Amino acid sequence: RPRWRGLIEEYRRWLPVSDDTPVITLQEGGTPLLPAPVLSEKTGCEVYLKVEGANPTGSFKDRGMTVAISKAVQAGSRAVICASTGNTSASAAAYAARAGLLCAVLVPQGKIALGKLAQALVHGAKLLQIDGNFDDCLALAAKLAQDYPVTLVNSINPDRIEGQKTAAFEIVDALGDAPDVHCLPVGNAGNITAYWKGYVEYADPSRGGPARRRPRMFGFQAAGAAPIVLGRVVEKPSTIATAIRIGNPASWTKALEARDASGGAILSVTDRQILAAYRLLATREAVFVEPASAASVAGLLAAREQGLLDRGLRVVCTVTGNGLKDPDWAIAGAPAPVTVPPDPQAAARTLGLHA
Ligand code: F0G
Repeated sequence: RPRWRGLIEEYRRWLPVSDDTPVITLQEGGTPLLPAPVLSEKTGCEVYLKVEGANPTGSFKDRGMTVAISKAVQAGSRAVICASTGNTSASAAAYAARAGLLCAVLVPQGKIALGKLAQALVHGAKLLQIDGNFDDCLALAAKLAQDYPVTLVNSINPDRIEGQKTAAFEIVDALGDAPDVHCLPVGNAGNITAYWKGYVEYADPSRGGPARRRPRMFGFQAAGAAPIVLGRVVEKPSTIATAIRIGNPASWTKALEARDASGGAILSVTDRQILAAYRLLATREAVFVEPASAASVAGLLAAREQGLLDRGLRVVCTVTGNGLKDPDWAIAGAPAPVTVPPDPQAAARTLGLHA
């Protein structure tokens, strides 16, 4: 079996690249589609997790970034800029480092997970903390990209969507067809847009797509940051899932299109539901994700409970980012570690072991 070459080489004919495009890759994509026996048992469905935390910088953003950075280099760009709740900045910083580009990132002050901040810094990005939320950061980044010679690599850059759609291709390639339902977290709404584009193209016979059908798209926002569910901008979004703390998603209209064309829904889940799913994923399925990623699973569980989805369906939940990026919630939810002397009896007693 040939080794995975990164998604531009694997899906070249579906992407906006030519022979002249320099391929900037960290061999992203090719992530596990992991059967989830506990979730399957709980829901009566056949549930899989698309584990995007297995990408090079630990999130799905790498799929979009390999295309966006390759195209930026092809266009002669020397610098890129993005706004981010953390993962986009980590990914942009890494791919820009690989390409030798300058990378500027704008993040909401105090509202991004420490691991993500570390990634942007270690890859050499120029990081500005903005006294505002993500929506303010994105407006600022877009303005700078308009007025200065710097390429915007947020998901309003169509090359990002092109790269991210390949996750849908991988799922169809692995299952033999699209699932019945696809669940994912929604923040700026780029990813739901990208998956839907991927599923539609892969089911298009005129393009030689191998899929026969398309899934219903179920997107989940955090209850305190649910503009699409509420139908209005949220001025002060709030949720523990900092990655999706967004009040005015850039791809709002496209997310509605994906929802309506697929017969799906965009719903909200509370922080409590997100954290319960986060712990279930870690303790029972053994998949450590960041809180925002657990919104897809929290949403699936809630949708089944409310009878919005039938038993027996084949469901894929995308878990978007690696749990190591944001360990605070893992530690906060666990009992404090106990210190004992290096003595077997003391250790055994504390562990509750009996000979
Ligand atoms: N999950 C994670 C872990 C994310 O980082 C994001 C978005 C989403 C879900 C939502 O995806 O925005 O395409 O709807 N993170 C962006 C960032 C906003 O800056 O890293 P979306």
